[in-house]
Amino acid sequence: MLAAYAAAQSASDPLSGLVVGERPDPQARPGWTVVRLRAAALNHHDVWSLRGVGLPADRLPMVLGCDGAGVDEAGNEVIVHAVVPSDGWRGDETLDPRRTLLSELHDGTLAEQVAVPATNVVPKPGSMSWETAACLSTAWLTAYRMLFTNSGVQPGGTVLVQGAGGGVATALIQLGQAAGYRMWATSRDEAKGARALDIGADRVFASGERLPDRVDAVMETVGAATWSHSVNSLRPGGTIVISGATSGDAPAKAELTKIFFKQLRVVGSTMGTQQELAQLARLVVQAGIEPVIDSVRPLSEARDGFARMVDGDVFGKVVFTVG
Ligand SMILES: NC(=O)c1ccc[n+]([C@@H]2O[C@H](COP(=O)([O-])OP(=O)(O)OC[C@H]3O[C@@H](n4cnc5c(N)ncnc54)[C@H](OP(=O)(O)O)[C@@H]3O)[C@@H](O)[C@H]2O)c1
Repeated sequence: MLAAYAAAQSASDPLSGLVVGERPDPQARPGWTVVRLRAAALNHHDVWSLRGVGLPADRLPMVLGCDGAGVDEAGNEVIVHAVVPSDGWRGDETLDPRRTLLSELHDGTLAEQVAVPATNVVPKPGSMSWETAACLSTAWLTAYRMLFTNSGVQPGGTVLVQGAGGGVATALIQLGQAAGYRMWATSRDEAKGARALDIGADRVFASGERLPDRVDAVMETVGAATWSHSVNSLRPGGTIVISGATSGDAPAKAELTKIFFKQLRVVGSTMGTQQELAQLARLVVQAGIEPVIDSVRPLSEARDGFARMVDGDVFGKVVFTVG
């Protein structure tokens, strides 16, 4: 089958290890199902894997991809859930210390077919396009849990999103706007800031700019470059929900004093549960949300999509059509 896979890793030149070519079809195994993908999407996770972060070299070659939607063996249209728990785990799979994401231990979704545990699919609403469905498994699921499960902010509250253009960031803006939050965003880029307004942000600011008011929560995926600004932007008792550190995980100032003095909460957040993914799919349909898609291209042209993400050019999700 055609797949985009990591054949090698390089911290400085991630594209050098990417191959778009043939891989063996996935083997059927008890309790698992094979999904024939119709669309898949890219996450920064796939770039980290090519840089050698989170994917041990002895697991190569590895088909990349956590996002996907397609048709399972029973003919159901499904969205793939990328969090694979260890055998016998019960409860919230994101808390399983031995859970993996697709493409970390098992081949991922940037392929014509993917094998997943039979429980790792949720129904794709009939009215939802394949491209939309393919956006939801990772960045959108992460945004859903950050905002609705972990921020503690009620509708009407003010939420700041750092780095407006990213996949998680655009999902946060669209979900928050649909749910009645006042969404503010920062971007390094004026044009991306303007687009953030178009998709539902109430106000946008340059990265690091002082805000007119303190916010109830900050959604952080940028990391080192924005950490101080996130801490300084919160009201006393406010919450930073962090799910990524694209610019590095060691900020120049950890801001420990401000964190305890202002009694801030720092909440780590990773992916979401299968139930949250199903709920997210229903919300997207119910609220008429159309996830912002940066670009759509066939899987055979996956290298161009990866290059956009490595260059930091994306606004929304990079989607690949399959078949
Ligand atoms: N924990 C989880 O479950 C989980 C799930 C999904 C993603 N993540 C992580 O979250 C991060 C974002 O993922 P993504 O897929 O949304 O990536 P992405 O689409 O590549 O988004 C990254 C965004 O961050 C901003 N940014 C990057 N470098 C920056 C810098 N030096 N200074 C300021 N802003 C910067 C940019 O926004 P502007 O250009 O607008 O400034 C960019 O659009 C990644 O690190 C990823 O690994 C974690």
